Amino acid sequence: MKTEVAIIGGGPSGLLLSQLLNQAGVATVVLERSSRDHVLSRIRAGVLEAGTVDMLREAGVGERMAREGIPHEGCYLTDDDLMVRINFEELTGTSVMVYGQTEVTTDLYKAQDAIGATIIHGVEDVVIQDADSNAPYVEYTLDGARTRLDCAYVAGCDGFHGVSRKTIPADKRREFERVYPFGWLGVLSRTKPAHEELIYANSSNGFALASMRSETLSRYYVQVPLTDKVEEWSDERFWATLKSCLPSGVADTMQTGPSIEKSIAPLRSFVSEPLRWGRLFLVGDAAHIVPPTGAKGLNLAVSDVHYLYQALIDAVKKGDTAGIDAYSERALLRIWKAMRFSWQMTTMLHHFDGEDIFAAQMRKSTLRHLSQSETARRDLAENYIGLPF
Ligand code: FAD
Ligand code: PHB
Repeated sequence: MKTEVAIIGGGPSGLLLSQLLNQAGVATVVLERSSRDHVLSRIRAGVLEAGTVDMLREAGVGERMAREGIPHEGCYLTDDDLMVRINFEELTGTSVMVYGQTEVTTDLYKAQDAIGATIIHGVEDVVIQDADSNAPYVEYTLDGARTRLDCAYVAGCDGFHGVSRKTIPADKRREFERVYPFGWLGVLSRTKPAHEELIYANSSNGFALASMRSETLSRYYVQVPLTDKVEEWSDERFWATLKSCLPSGVADTMQTGPSIEKSIAPLRSFVSEPLRWGRLFLVGDAAHIVPPTGAKGLNLAVSDVHYLYQALIDAVKKGDTAGIDAYSERALLRIWKAMRFSWQMTTMLHHFDGEDIFAAQMRKSTLRHLSQSETARRDLAENYIGLPF
């Protein structure tokens, strides 16, 4: 088999890149390890930056998002009962869109089907060969048969545990990492959201986030020790913990109900540099991970695609490599800013085990400052709605 761009991974970054390349007449093959149903069942991100919304529109998948997505003009950060509203619209002139990653992925799969793109599910043992030569190829096993895919370029869109990053020799990359000593326990429930805007809650009982997917579907998270198992968290225990972290006015009136999904995600900051080795390019979670506190993971994957797709079109169609030569540096500049913001939001809002009362006081003081300083709120808003591409 032969294609122009081999894309490893059919998550949001792989599908979006494939869609934009196909629209421009560049041939792709997407190799995805899991089934389509499995990819679509992963409940992950929920907040899209305005730049992400624009990119999805450009890829021809803006229609349902415009109908069903919920624009949010602000969010709340709280410290026990103190509620600080960050008014994105007033502070930056922009808002964000609440539209789940599963919906984004559903729309992209549909668009890829309509355009006749090739997505191969269930591939095993993917190996990227000769990425540092002019003739890379990818080998994989499908239904027991080993297959070879020749290509001009390889896009590694296969997430944190994928093979792409590890294909780059260890002495050619540098890794930066911070692992946090807690995770997020997430619950999805068919209940009315606790509040019409997102609430990031710092409290003496730990961190919680009240988010949503629609007017009848809520998404909540609480901070948990890394050693906790989902089975240890009954719905009753979850709701009681969540309520103990949210401002009492919100907790007292919120609707609860059976969970329809429950999972624990560890929190990590991670960057692997550079994003390129020869003809292999890393995109999204394959190259970097942020803790979800800033809602940046999916948005960063999309901004990587923004920097890469036109560059690949120029390289394939015109032999112009200026864009692909600049990709890693350009993307990393924005990645590091989102890293900083996500780390700052995480530090500002979470309780760290073993911390002293000074640390707790610093969090309180930061939130108090936010409540009183428009400058501080503007800085947060500017980062939250997404720095320019
Ligand atoms: P992925 O979504 O990881 O997609 C990679 C794809 O590659 C997957 O479909 C995988 O099956 C496939 N793959 C992996 N290895 C191979 C291989 N060897 N061969 C072929 N295919 C392979 N972000 C937020 O903003 N908010 C959140 O609440 C949030 N929660 C998250 C919870 C979890 C558990 C995780 C893991 C991430 C979360 N994120 C969140 C981050 C966000 O979901 C990611 O940033 C986003 O999914 C990145 O998209 P991606 O396409 O780069 O990677
Ligand atoms: C979500 O709705 O899943 C969500 C929203 C905002 C975040 C993280 C997750 O910062």
